[in-house]
Amino acid sequence: MHITRAFLDGMKEAAPQEVHIVNIIDKHIEYYTGCFTCKHNGGECIHNDDMKEPLDEVFESDLLLFSYPLYCYGMPASLKAFADRTMPLSSMVMKKQGDRYVHVGQADFSRLKYMMTCGCGFPNTKQNFEPAVMQFKLMFPNNHTIITVPESPMFNAPEAAEVTVPRFELVKQAGKQYAETGEIDEKLLAEICSPMIPEMCMRVSVIMNLYKQKTATRKDIYTPSPVAVCVVFQMTINADKLNIHNTLISIYHLIVF
Ligand SMILES: Cc1cc2nc3c(=O)[nH]c(=O)nc-3n(C[C@H](O)[C@H](O)[C@H](O)COP(=O)(O)O)c2cc1C
Repeated sequence: MHITRAFLDGMKEAAPQEVHIVNIIDKHIEYYTGCFTCKHNGGECIHNDDMKEPLDEVFESDLLLFSYPLYCYGMPASLKAFADRTMPLSSMVMKKQGDRYVHVGQADFSRLKYMMTCGCGFPNTKQNFEPAVMQFKLMFPNNHTIITVPESPMFNAPEAAEVTVPRFELVKQAGKQYAETGEIDEKLLAEICSPMIPEMCMRVSVIMNLYKQKTATRKDIYTPSPVAVCVVFQMTINADKLNIHNTLISIYHLIVF
C-alpha cells in the first residue's frame, strides 16, 4: 500500500478525492463457481457474501485502483477471486475488438478509469511483472495506468529511507499529475518503475538480512554469485554494525570500483 498511499496523497494535493478502500483480504469473498447465473438474470450472483457492496460501488466510481504485491508473477489469489467475481458486470454477449474477443458489459463502463499499483520482491522487473501487466491490460483495455515497482520490501525498511523517500515523492508527483491531467508523464513513470538500488545490491542485502536473522546458512551466503562472494564475506564481519543502506552503498562501491 505504500506506493498507493503516496499516489493518493498526490491526487488529493491536486483536488479533494473521495477514496473508498476495500481490503480484499479482510472480506468474505467466495470463489466463482462458473454457474453463469448472473449472466442471465441481470447480474445477480448466487453467493450472498461481501462482494455485493464493491460491485455496487463500481457504478459510482470514477477510478478503480488495484493495489497488490506480485505473487507468482500475478495477482494474489484473494484478489483474483475478487476479479473473477466481477463477472456479473459483463454479459454473455461477445464482440470482436481488433484481434480479440471481449464480453459486452451489462452497463456502459466507458467513463471508468483503471489503475494498477504493484510491488515485487525481486530486484528486476524483467520476466517478472509481464503476466500481471498483460492480464490487467486485457481485463481493462482502455483508460488504464500501470505502476510497477521492484524491490518493494525496501519500503518496509526505515534504513532505506534515503532511496524510498525520494521514490515516494515521485509517486506523489505522479498522483498529482494524474488527478490534474488523467495521465502520468512517460519519463516520470519510467523512473518510478525503475529499481531504487542496483540489482546486485538488492540480492546481497536480502542474504545479509537473512544472515542477521540467522535464517541463512554460510552456504547461502557463499553461493549467490561469483561477484558477491567477496562482498558478502565483508558483510559477515560487519553485519551487526551496518544498517541496510550503508551496507548497500558499500557493497555497490565494492563491486563497481
Ligand atoms: C506467495 C508469494 C509469491 C511471490 N511472488 C513473487 C514474484 O513472482 N516475483 C517477485 O518479484 N516477488 C514475489 N514475491 C514477493 C512480493 O512481491 C513482495 O514481498 C511484496 O511486493 C512486498 O510487498 P508488501 O510489503 O506490500 O507485502 C512473492 C511473495 C509471496 C509471499
